Amino acid sequence: MRKVSIIGGGLTHFGEHWEISFREMVAEAGAKALHDSKIEGKDIQAIYGGCMASGRLLGQEHVGALIADQLGLNPLPSTRCEAACASGGVALRQGIQAIASGMYDVVAVGGVEKMTEVSVEEASLALGGAGDQEWELFNGATFPALYALMAKRHMLEYGTTEEQLALCAVKNHANAVHNEYAQFRSPITLEQAMNASVIASPLKLFDCSPISDGAAVVILAASDVAKKFVDEPVEVIASAQASDSLALTGRETLTSLKATQIAAKDAFKQAKITPKDVDLAEVHDCFTIAEILAIEDLGFFPKGKGGKATEDGETALNSTVSVNTSGGLKACGHPVGATGVKQAVECLWQLQGKAGQRQVKDAEYALSHNVGGSGATAVVHIYKKL
Ligand SMILES: CC(C)(COP(=O)(O)OP(=O)(O)OC[C@H]1O[C@@H](n2cnc3c(N)ncnc32)[C@H](O)[C@@H]1OP(=O)(O)O)[C@@H](O)C(=O)NCCC(=O)NCCS
Repeated sequence: MRKVSIIGGGLTHFGEHWEISFREMVAEAGAKALHDSKIEGKDIQAIYGGCMASGRLLGQEHVGALIADQLGLNPLPSTRCEAACASGGVALRQGIQAIASGMYDVVAVGGVEKMTEVSVEEASLALGGAGDQEWELFNGATFPALYALMAKRHMLEYGTTEEQLALCAVKNHANAVHNEYAQFRSPITLEQAMNASVIASPLKLFDCSPISDGAAVVILAASDVAKKFVDEPVEVIASAQASDSLALTGRETLTSLKATQIAAKDAFKQAKITPKDVDLAEVHDCFTIAEILAIEDLGFFPKGKGGKATEDGETALNSTVSVNTSGGLKACGHPVGATGVKQAVECLWQLQGKAGQRQVKDAEYALSHNVGGSGATAVVHIYKKL
């Protein structure tokens, strides 16, 4: 297989966008990615785009063709990928596979979601479709409720505390202060997080990612041509994906995401490195408990020790492993289809040394982890500075 690199990335600001439409967000992120990659539209041979719920949220389907049209790239083949909140990560994997197979030299991978056009209640119902509609959502189990169940079980089995959960949010808000694209750029204290209104006990407001609008684009190129475009491409040294039951009732355990564990094992095998080698990780913290599960399931900390590791500052910027330097889903925002691609952009800019005040020192290896639903899809990518 051909090796694949990322040569550039572009983001819109994540947050609430009243002044810019779904398609304009794609165009903005796309234009920035082309500029960052020093390429032109004519260099791109195919497009893969992650989007979860545009039909439900905006009444707009056929997003693959819409993206090509909006970017002025007709008649390029353009394909929408849907895997709930992992849509962006799955689109990225499709783009990587298309180049690795030898079919293309250069492809664009995008992710987009516009969620604030509808009420939070309507957005919650749309998001709930990422779980099991018949067994979970129909019975009232929205996503905060499902992750609250996982949090309760983790607390029971391992003694994880509400303070430890809240400290994930405190750290991620601190990182987002230095990210100009982030939805929430104000720091929060442990007291604020602990005293916030309860969403689904034990999860409170600051334990939850927000409802967000945003788009992200990366440009991929075969590694053997990447340096024709930019001096510092970042190689994708692993791309892995796994699936599990949609409903929590089908799982062996509530305190691990098996799909993450399997995808991570495969990714580390492909990359020929261990979790200890990773300098920074963008993990899927749709809720603070999801970050605790992720840092354990990815192998950074033993099962049950994620809460303690967070409390001890082992996931802070420039610590054992810098987790969610962008601010994560919690503070950077979570426009669901865009998240997996935004994670790749953060890894790219970190490995290129372009992350400003949130830069991880001497970063050599980065990992991104994108989850669909409550863990039915997990996608893990590992990147290396060339
Ligand atoms: C947590 C949640 C229910 C809050 O919704 P809400 O109570 O209706 O909140 P509102 O939109 O009315 O916002 C109220 C305030 O809280 C802030 N806010 C909303 N969500 C926030 C969050 N997650 N973190 C921090 N602040 C948040 C808003 O900015 C607003 O602040 P302001 O009054 O200063 O403008 C909603 O963000 C949510 O559903 N999040 C989970 C999304 C999800 O499930 N994603 C998929 C994961 S798999």
